[in-house]
Amino acid sequence: MDLINVFDYEALARERMETGSWVYYACGAEDEVTLRANRSAFERIKLRPRVLVDVSQIEMKTTVLGTPLPMPILIAPTAFQGLAHPEGECEMARGAALAGTLMIVSSSANRRLEEVAAAAGGPLWFQLYITTRPTAQRLVTRAEAAGYQGLVLTVDTPRWGNKERSARYPLTGSTYKANFENESEGDLPDPSCTWEIIPWLRSLSHLPLILKGILRAEDAQRACEYGVDAIIVSNHGGRQLDGVPATIEVLPEIVEAVAGRCEVYLDGGIRRGTDILKALALGARAVLVGRPPLWGLAVNGAQGVAEVLALLRDELEQAMALAGCPSLSSIDRSLVRLSYVP
Ligand code: FNR
Repeated sequence: MDLINVFDYEALARERMETGSWVYYACGAEDEVTLRANRSAFERIKLRPRVLVDVSQIEMKTTVLGTPLPMPILIAPTAFQGLAHPEGECEMARGAALAGTLMIVSSSANRRLEEVAAAAGGPLWFQLYITTRPTAQRLVTRAEAAGYQGLVLTVDTPRWGNKERSARYPLTGSTYKANFENESEGDLPDPSCTWEIIPWLRSLSHLPLILKGILRAEDAQRACEYGVDAIIVSNHGGRQLDGVPATIEVLPEIVEAVAGRCEVYLDGGIRRGTDILKALALGARAVLVGRPPLWGLAVNGAQGVAEVLALLRDELEQAMALAGCPSLSSIDRSLVRLSYVP
């Protein structure tokens, strides 16, 4: 079978993976309303192409917090990549390097963050869940020492979401969290964590701080007041609170609240170049993909990861050309028509 889009990788990954592992990657929380909304919201947004623009050269190089990237697409942090490939996060990092993009390494990785850094050939950020402060402090210190260039604090997870579909197909693969010194250390997020964690985290390292999981303007505003460097508009791929909106629907209010004070990225349901174009038009500086690189990893290791990212890049390039946008700076709000009721 020719693999001509990311859905082909999804189908093949499903065939190749153990059922429990596949369902763990695929599922959302409870009724999966938000999981589906992440896709359907993109389908409702219509593009308004410009014609007779010189699109003989398409330029999509960008930067995220000063790090140059060939395209505005990053790899989102996802747990237990060993379920897709024996080398897990190390192999994903090799794929990120082949694609020339940045990978965010989950704190719930099967491989130690130092091993992933040693395998990587490109920039890495480290994603943090706060379980206890001493544990978080150790992780931050290790990540900075290992050369990670950013710290992504995931803030939508005071508890783990109810992934009911996954509960019905128990995992047989490894859920060993290699970054923690013992099993209980990485077990549960601290539900008492508040905004006070931000100055504390800041005091631990010089790394830029990115908040992942913001879904409303007031929180974006607050994040700016606390001086974060970037926000990731995310609903955790529909895996935390079911019933929250698609991320693309809340992006405009967050971009407005931030008003240029920090960078804004988006993840959730990005499967096509046109999805990326819509997110950029609504004010995201870059997007993250969670499941698609996992599919690439399951199908063909690092090469598969690079192939999936190349497909998305090529589709974005095609979409920019057909929409009359030769550069990222030519993509603006006027490119989209929102037909959902906000
Ligand atoms: C995730 N996500 C996630 N986020 C995070 O901050 N830390 C983590 O360890 C994980 N783990 C994780 C595992 C799996 C299997 C999935 C699918 C997702 C959320 C992830 O970073 C991202 O927000 C979503 O995956 C984006 O949605 P798409 O691209 O998968 O639709």
